[in-house]
Amino acid sequence: PRLALLMLAFVPLIAGIVYLFSKKARPMFLWVQRRLDRLNTVMQENLAGVRVVKAFVREDHEIERFEEANVRLMEENIRVMRLIAILVPTMTLILNLGVIGVVWFGGLATLSGTLTVGRVVAAVNYLSFALFPLMMLAGMLGPIAAADASAERILEVLDSRPAVKEREGSRPLAGARGRVEFDRVWFSYTGDSSEPVLADVSFVAEPGETVAILGATGSGKSTLIHLIPRFYDVTSGAVRIDGTDVRDVELRSLRSQIGIALQEAVLFTGTVRENITYGRPDATDEEVIAAAKAAQAHRFIESLPDGYDTEIGQRGVTLSGGQRQRIAIARALLVRPKILILDDSTSAVDIETEVRLQDALDRLIASSAHTTTRFIVAQRISTVLLADRILVIDKGRIAAIGTHSELIEESPIYQEIYSSQLGGDADGR
Ligand SMILES: Nc1ncnc2c1ncn2[C@@H]1O[C@H](COP(=O)(O)OP(=O)(O)O)[C@@H](O)[C@H]1O
Ligand SMILES: [Mg+2]
Repeated sequence: PRLALLMLAFVPLIAGIVYLFSKKARPMFLWVQRRLDRLNTVMQENLAGVRVVKAFVREDHEIERFEEANVRLMEENIRVMRLIAILVPTMTLILNLGVIGVVWFGGLATLSGTLTVGRVVAAVNYLSFALFPLMMLAGMLGPIAAADASAERILEVLDSRPAVKEREGSRPLAGARGRVEFDRVWFSYTGDSSEPVLADVSFVAEPGETVAILGATGSGKSTLIHLIPRFYDVTSGAVRIDGTDVRDVELRSLRSQIGIALQEAVLFTGTVRENITYGRPDATDEEVIAAAKAAQAHRFIESLPDGYDTEIGQRGVTLSGGQRQRIAIARALLVRPKILILDDSTSAVDIETEVRLQDALDRLIASSAHTTTRFIVAQRISTVLLADRILVIDKGRIAAIGTHSELIEESPIYQEIYSSQLGGDADGR
């Protein structure tokens, strides 16, 4: 009986250690996860932006960033491993002290004749049996703590709310005609109104119109058009499509009416066809080819080793910037958008191809069953000459708005852009 009490005394001791350990290990594992996240982010950024890294000769800087994230992760891992390394021997030590205790007291009791040797041996065996699972448990603590921390990180990611939320009671955007209205729109990325990226932007694009957006780098052109598919929400004011605030429209239905070719022509690993049909995987071959033709991409795609089935990306062929842009345009056209947005999508395309592209676009849009409102962000004045409306953006404000013939009369800033480009090379750049 006394031996039993002795054994019981060990249980809280071990439980206490287990508790202390898990309390200490959990935050450590969380840190390890964070460091791992950081490492992945650095790596992903480097891969996605490898051209930018190279163009600005920042390789050394990026290698340093990676190194730093890597060392941090290693240090955190070492701390956790140390803790585990201490835990297991400690548990074994306690166990064996227990065995010594039982043998010690049992031995004394045997000598004084109150216990038989057999009972003492039995007690030692019981002790081992009882404590062995506890040992195992201690061994499992590391993985359990790690799993717990991982689960928490997963939940954090799953729970993270996007900046743009679906409003309660939002409706699908039915039968959009494509009238886009910016009503005193202010926007800042930080939500802090002291440094607005867009300030008091108001204009209307009627259905079927082509709106060209001109402005210096960083003036807010991309930001402005990103508000239409609600990549971000306005800080104040409203963006309306056919009179409905985009925040009151179901995101899916809003974005499915919009075809957009981003400034960075992002292509994914896969075939050319997969990249073009990205927004409409069920499109027929004829539709894919029609979109590619309008985007002036059909001819070069045909000349690729496997035509539309050519793999692009990491293991496949490498495309030029202009080719990537044209595939991105084909992707935007294929969804038959009511609103088409091309963000500087022809910057890497030569001017002749661009003129053909604009003609083909006109024809494709004229032949479609619905009107398409176009937003074209462009550097070249030649691209914007025929637009129904030209917005000149300067530091987030509309500096001038009108047609080419109006602006050339009235807007000094437009005149300046115009003459500087005509004075430049024949390419207009
Ligand atoms: N995701 C972002 N977060 C914070 N600031 C941004 C972000 N994107 C752009 N900006 C800033 O907003 C301003 C306008 O950028 P942008 O709309 O890309 O201009 P543009 O397309 O005319 O070159 C710039 O000062 C830029 O640094
Ligand atoms: Mg831009």
